[in-house]
Amino acid sequence: MYKIPATTLFLGKNLIFMPECHSTNDLALKLCQKPEWMEGTLVITNNQTAGRGQRGNNWIAAPGENLTFSFLIKPGVITVREQFYLNLFVSLGIRDYLTRLTDTKVQIKWPNDILVNDKKICGILIENQLGGDAINASVIGIGLNINQQHFNIDTATSLKLLTGNQYELSDELGMLLQHIEWRYMQMKERKFGLLLADYLDCLHRRNENHLYSSAGEQFEGTISGIDEVGRLKVKVGDKEQIFDVKGIQYN
Ligand code: BTN
Repeated sequence: MYKIPATTLFLGKNLIFMPECHSTNDLALKLCQKPEWMEGTLVITNNQTAGRGQRGNNWIAAPGENLTFSFLIKPGVITVREQFYLNLFVSLGIRDYLTRLTDTKVQIKWPNDILVNDKKICGILIENQLGGDAINASVIGIGLNINQQHFNIDTATSLKLLTGNQYELSDELGMLLQHIEWRYMQMKERKFGLLLADYLDCLHRRNENHLYSSAGEQFEGTISGIDEVGRLKVKVGDKEQIFDVKGIQYN
């Protein structure tokens, strides 16, 4: 069903296709418990029945219409403190891929949702296996809406809804992986400044005044960027406040 991508160096070369499974992240997490696992191993399914999202949410995707997969990496060069760069390289790889296909600006909503026209087209779930100050393995799960046209929520979109085109999932997977691998190389080469500049360039709501809430209180603020460990920096009045993922809601 899915071809081994021809244009990547290692990503997806070991490709495991499951016609149906609960969650590709769960399968990939099991794989990296084994002593020998290959970097770039990718698990992909056509029907994910218990897809997991961030903050304990579900990820629901119509069978056979979207890309739902997870891959394994050994990001040896980055420390636990630098793990936010995993969000940067994956989200930028997806942003790069989508930017070629649509004229509309593709944005990244902190930390790693991919939006077009303020609607979510892709979600990313990163789960790390830590060993002291090192990341032994990282499972990167991606749900990218490709051909699906009807969603239960009006905050979701797909490539087909944006362009009107029908896509061949296997071809799109190959191109997507090529872009993600390219950004992964940048991270491995520790080109952090470059990744950060590109991330800030497409960060949703950056330098705009919007409503947020934290600890039950609503406030107006302006996102200015992220700090050295990836927390969100928001200017509230004349003060800069720092938030982690659980500490702020977008209104
Ligand atoms: C989110 O935005 O909440 C993250 C969604 C991540 C969904 C993908 S689909 C493939 C992989 N397997 C899972 O169970 N989740 C991720």
